[in-house]
Parts: sequence; structure tokens; C-alpha cells
Amino acid sequence: MSGKTDRLVRQRFAPGTTTEDLKAYMAPFVATLGYKFNTEDEFVDEVLASELEIMEKTGDVFCPCRIRTGDPKEDAKIVCPCIPFYLEQFAAMRKCWCGLFIRTDVEDGAELIGVIEEPEDGVPVDVPVCRVEDLADGQVRHIKIGKRDIALVRVGEEYFALSNLCRHAYGPLSDGVLDGCYLMCPWHGWRYDVRDGSTDHPDADVRTYEVVMRDGLVMVVVTLH
Ligand code: SF4
Ligand code: FES
Repeated sequence: MSGKTDRLVRQRFAPGTTTEDLKAYMAPFVATLGYKFNTEDEFVDEVLASELEIMEKTGDVFCPCRIRTGDPKEDAKIVCPCIPFYLEQFAAMRKCWCGLFIRTDVEDGAELIGVIEEPEDGVPVDVPVCRVEDLADGQVRHIKIGKRDIALVRVGEEYFALSNLCRHAYGPLSDGVLDGCYLMCPWHGWRYDVRDGSTDHPDADVRTYEVVMRDGLVMVVVTLH
């Protein structure tokens, strides 16, 4: 990413910023990336109003669908518009996570509206991570949701999500080899059952996450604490 793009994304907004100010700033910026505001004006206003509410609390324009980690460097990636950081995923979905922005050639954005509620502590949130067809059978992909490092696995028509960190010496399980429902760590070969995170080694199971599929998207369910 160019320094110019980086600076634009990290622009701070002054107190008193309105939804119209956000629109005026964001529209030309996302246009350079091939996006425009959703065609559903009411939805756009609702999301932007939520972003402004969050800005009052945090000082930055975070969108309600993204999970803040508290780590300023990580959270800089989800300051709206976060499109430059997720170019591949958003291009595949034809929209950003929320659907606030859609690809410029999409005529009706009504179908592409996403989550707009700000996640609350203790409430599970379905986080879209890819399209169903993005992973082939037997493929594993590393994803991050907030601070969580997750290995997303496809076995047949089913998806599984488990912690990406091997309990032996923190090897990256998403770089491992999948054999049926067993994922072998690339470093020293510990095997994990992707269905429940279990391994033969005592007290070394990894945590798993529920995965749901909706509207052609794969979503990992996480709970904020
Ligand atoms: S997902 Fe969309 S609305 Fe949310 S921060 Fe990114 S660009 Fe903004
Ligand atoms: S780090 Fe995974 S087996 Fe050693």
C-alpha cells in the first residue's frame, strides 16, 4: 500500500463531524479502490451514525461490525473505510463486511447489507471470513478476528475453525497438512482433530469456534469478553 493511501485511511475526524462529512471524505477515497456507498441510503446513514457514536467513545471512526482489539496497530486496520486492508476478501464478496461500501458496478446493494450492530461483551457475533467457494475441499486458511489467530478448514462440504497455535511450541496450524479431519502441525507433527480441537497429547487440545454458513458466506462465531 502506498504511503498516501495509508495516510488517507488513518485520517482522524474532529468532534462535531457529521455523517455528511464522512460521506464527503469517504466517497472519493473508496472510488479510487473501485467502491461506492451502498445504494440503500437509509442503511448508509444508519451505519455512519453508528460510526460517529463509536468515534465519540474511541476517537476513531470504527464501524460497528468490526471487532476492536485494543491494540492500536491492529485496530488501525479496521478504521473505516478498511477496504485497503481486505482488498481480496472484499473483492470476492463485492462489498466490505458491513455492506456500507459495494463495488462500483453493483447496481442494487440491498442484497449486500451486512451486520450493523456493535457487538456487545459476551454476545456471540457471526463474523464473515470468506465466501463458501473460496476454499476448496481439503484447504486450510489462516484468518484473524481481532486478536484471535484461527485456522479455517474445509473438509468436504463442512467448515471448521480452530485456534491456529499448536500447543506444543506454537507452530502455525494453518500451514499444516490436512488428512481427512486431522490437521498436522508443520513443525513437529502433532495432530489435531479439526472437529473438536482434540489431540493425543495430554491437556493440549486447542479451542474451536462454531462456523455457520449463510448467504454463501462462511462465518466464524466469536464472543467478545
Ligand atoms: S467493513 Fe465497511 S463499514 Fe466496516 S469499517 Fe470496513 S469499510 Fe467501513
Ligand atoms: S509446534 Fe506444533 S508440533 Fe511442535
